[in-house]
Amino acid sequence: MSAFPVGFVWGAATSAYQIEGSPRADGKGESIWDRFVRAPGRVRDGSTGDVACDHYRRWPTDLALMASLGLKAYRFSVAWTRVLPEGTGRVNEVGLDFYERLVDGLLAAGIEPWVTLYHWDLPQALEDRGGWPVRETAAEFAGFAEVLSARMGDRVRHWMTVNEPWEIGFLGYGSGVHAPGRADLRDALAAIHTVLLAHGDAVQAIRANSPHARVGIALDLVACYPDRPGAQDAAAAERMDGHLNRWFLDALFADGYPQDMVALYGPAAPAIQAHDMEIIATPIDFVGLNYYYSQWVRAARGTGKGDSKGDGAGATKLEQVLRAHVVRPHVDTLTSLGWAVHPEGLEASLLRLAATAPALEIVVTESGAAYDDPPTAGGRIEDRQRIAYHAAYLEAVRRAVAGGAPVSGYFAWSLLDNFEWAEGYGPRFGLVGVSPGTQERTVKESGRWYSHVIEANRLIPVEGARW
Ligand code: FCB
Repeated sequence: MSAFPVGFVWGAATSAYQIEGSPRADGKGESIWDRFVRAPGRVRDGSTGDVACDHYRRWPTDLALMASLGLKAYRFSVAWTRVLPEGTGRVNEVGLDFYERLVDGLLAAGIEPWVTLYHWDLPQALEDRGGWPVRETAAEFAGFAEVLSARMGDRVRHWMTVNEPWEIGFLGYGSGVHAPGRADLRDALAAIHTVLLAHGDAVQAIRANSPHARVGIALDLVACYPDRPGAQDAAAAERMDGHLNRWFLDALFADGYPQDMVALYGPAAPAIQAHDMEIIATPIDFVGLNYYYSQWVRAARGTGKGDSKGDGAGATKLEQVLRAHVVRPHVDTLTSLGWAVHPEGLEASLLRLAATAPALEIVVTESGAAYDDPPTAGGRIEDRQRIAYHAAYLEAVRRAVAGGAPVSGYFAWSLLDNFEWAEGYGPRFGLVGVSPGTQERTVKESGRWYSHVIEANRLIPVEGARW
């Protein structure tokens, strides 16, 4: 089976709010997720991240697990409110110590820390001052990047500024299904503009403290395909692509926001000041790609106004703006969240990134699948579908590498079953199972398989295998 490039970075990823728990320990301030989960109806199973995987206290166990799997790298995020409880101003040394111990522990175990600065847990104090739609939040984020890189820049060599700007804007401020739960298209686009400015500012702050650091961003691209043959759905897929992908790729790597999308968003498009686009396009060392699924898109017929039969009826504001909506996937294999397993979309997105930002290193910073595999009577978790998913997506990575995309690593989402945001604890993404009641960790079959893949630096047969 196929080998990966020498030195390929094999990792697993998590994020702070999804695993840490201990939301008020050691002087931690409140984040928008700490607040959001307390409002009724926000999380499907009514759960919170108050305990999650209890990683804040059990991190040595988790570190030992990573070492036993042979991981070469671990991607985690830092809770801004552990370090700066109010988002700015007073530094909480105890919070910084936690991440420093983790980094030192990883390095001692031969596991390279890959640190994400922002994985969705904005300090509530900053949300109270307007949150991401307000420009000043970018400067506060750069301050956080400065504090963190000043303390750990001598040891952390890989940084990601923000995780998935699209989700931060459109889920947090557009549909409101994520914290802080606001729903306004203009705010969503303003939030994304600030997040991208924050990214550029943070790259500069990290470089100043750590000249040899490699700095990137984690983007979630989604390959968009027309539902039906013909020009209408093709144009709709193109608009959806502009919304999900091109907006970010053009801002970061080309000439600024795409004009067709600016026109489509109309009055909701963000206000841009002189030099903003230069800040956003600050050169980076790698681009992280989070890839899960692809989408099939259909043109909306109606305007959404009183058109009871048209596809626009009941459409969200965003669907009306895009005149497009997502339809049933053109594949049979879906995860437990209904996400289309489509490795071809990953391959296409990697090749597209390579064409858009030539010579820029690419790292798959997240990929994974939710499947619920209860333990067998013997206590094993035999998650064959997850193995098949990672095998297929890794094969897609290998094809993209063969096609010329400089992909240098893959981080499985996730190391642990964890708190999946508004979905609560239902979806299970881990290579390692976590039993919510007892916190017991169980390495799944997929974890064992992944460990063999890492050791061999090549895909190994799935069929009939027992790890
Ligand atoms: C990504 C998020 C990550 C996790 C996975 C399933 O969009 O970055 O935190 O929720 O999806």
